Amino acid sequence: MPGFELWGAEERKEVNDVLETGILMRYGFDGPRKGVWKSKELEEAICKTFKCKYAQLTSSGTSALTTAMAALGIGAGDEVIMPSFTFVASFEAVLSVGAIPVLVDVDDTLTLSPDAVKKAITTRTKCIMPVHMCGSMADMDALISICSEHHLILLEDACQSIGASYNGKMLGTIGAAGTFSFDFVKTITCAEGGVVMTNDEDVYTKCDGYTDHGHDHKGTDRGADLHPFIGYNFRISELHAAVGLAQIKKLDKFLSIQKKNHAALKNILSQVTEISFRRIPDPTGDSCTFLSWFLPTEEITRAVIAELKTQGILAGNFYWFDNNWHYIRKWEHLKQGATLNGLSEAQKMAVLQQANKDFSVSDAIMSRCVSTSISLLWTDEQIHEKGEKIVAAVKKVLNEVSVSQ
Ligand SMILES: Cc1ncc(COP(=O)(O)O)c(C=O)c1O
Repeated sequence: MPGFELWGAEERKEVNDVLETGILMRYGFDGPRKGVWKSKELEEAICKTFKCKYAQLTSSGTSALTTAMAALGIGAGDEVIMPSFTFVASFEAVLSVGAIPVLVDVDDTLTLSPDAVKKAITTRTKCIMPVHMCGSMADMDALISICSEHHLILLEDACQSIGASYNGKMLGTIGAAGTFSFDFVKTITCAEGGVVMTNDEDVYTKCDGYTDHGHDHKGTDRGADLHPFIGYNFRISELHAAVGLAQIKKLDKFLSIQKKNHAALKNILSQVTEISFRRIPDPTGDSCTFLSWFLPTEEITRAVIAELKTQGILAGNFYWFDNNWHYIRKWEHLKQGATLNGLSEAQKMAVLQQANKDFSVSDAIMSRCVSTSISLLWTDEQIHEKGEKIVAAVKKVLNEVSVSQ
């Protein structure tokens, strides 16, 4: 899956350009930096690659989400509808702007169920935030139409789906804003970093200031910059941007390897009629970072996971249902509203109410799901071996289940 697997001379060259000047900060120092502006270059490359008008780099995907929400005017008391299956960062960002994460069920796309979204809309709903999990997309047509019917903001958390698209548009560029993460395990990495993409100049200008203490960036003297609003330091460094610049140039290569390896593995697993696959609303747009597959029951899935573990081949196969970080079932800290700095009483009550709902529909999907991460380094032989071992493990479990019945 991740770009770090193909790290090399290109990344070292870009980082060296920055080390030569010694200017590690993205703003200012116009003379000594000798024309080296890696963050700006990366933002331009992002706009070109993903076909959006504006891109604002940030220190992480989490800070990109927080920035996007602030720039979109999402704040105290606003409800943000988001899926029960995501990484904790999605709700952390909602909480950080004083808003309320309204968690709703996922469907067999492993992303927001449009029906569940419709049922969760209240007078306080401000935003719908699909999370394009594991390299693939939410049902965007349905979500766009819900947003326009109810005048809601669409914010895409595309942190896990760099390079995926939906009906010809890149994920992250379809809503009012969208974000990527460039942390170490993403399709392209900066080591740490993120970006907000938007086609709205006003949203972009706000992101630009918000990530740098509110600086308006209108002049060349930072001390003389105005501060039209309060911001924070969510800046990326030039060293991190340099890594990303090398990586973005390799994105097409990463995606074509992922797609080839994904297709080969899917082909092998398809031998087993009891295995079904995640529904992809636009299959040609799948970035193929993961192959997500379902077994008929939770019991069988757990037995297959145990068998993979026994055989020493579990690595790279994720059973999110038991994972502490990606699924509502294990988010005890959210369910208890366990923040270090107290939430307001109203926000805490709302969070507890939202996080303790019934997620049996999501459970029925996630308890049967395994996601296999796709490596860029696999050889054809390794894919064959890996696939056949998974198939053998699944068949063994299915056989044992049918004998015991
Ligand atoms: C869906 C999702 N959103 C947000 C993030 C946050 O990104 P970062 O780790 O760069 O803060 C991640 C990171 O894994 C993610 O998977």
